[in-house]
Amino acid sequence: MTRILLLHGPNLNRLGHRDPRHYGTITLPELEALVRERGRELGFEVAAFQSNHEGALVDRLQEETGRAAGCIVNPGALAHQSYVLHDAILDFGAPVVEVHLSRISEREPWRRVSVIRPACAAQVEGLGPDGYLRALAILADLLGRGSR
Ligand code: DQA
Repeated sequence: MTRILLLHGPNLNRLGHRDPRHYGTITLPELEALVRERGRELGFEVAAFQSNHEGALVDRLQEETGRAAGCIVNPGALAHQSYVLHDAILDFGAPVVEVHLSRISEREPWRRVSVIRPACAAQVEGLGPDGYLRALAILADLLGRGSR
């Protein structure tokens, strides 16, 4: 099985409770199970990690370098400010797909910019949990595994 890292940043442990208008009602364990299940169908073993701490996300990316073949990241608000995460993604050396549950391009002006976007192979926004399935399909294509 090909290893894929599923990274969630700050406040995403609050999914299911937090602002359902933007993020729906799915919890993080439910979302991780969904990605694991669809990942398995594509031949991916999904390793999931969430942290509210930027450095812990960087540590995990570094630990997975050379181990995971790709990564799906929902960085939370770090997307809008973290050049640290941008550089860690660049250094990861395998394709990273950025996912946002909400449509950040239509929300507050500060939220419309993702500073990690240039380091990522693709960005998916506004599709809710389906965005993660889309990200898996993108990774499958990028890794030459076919997805449909
Ligand atoms: C989010 C969008 C971010 O702006 C926000 O800070 C989040 C969630 C999303 O999934 O839509 O924490 O990444």
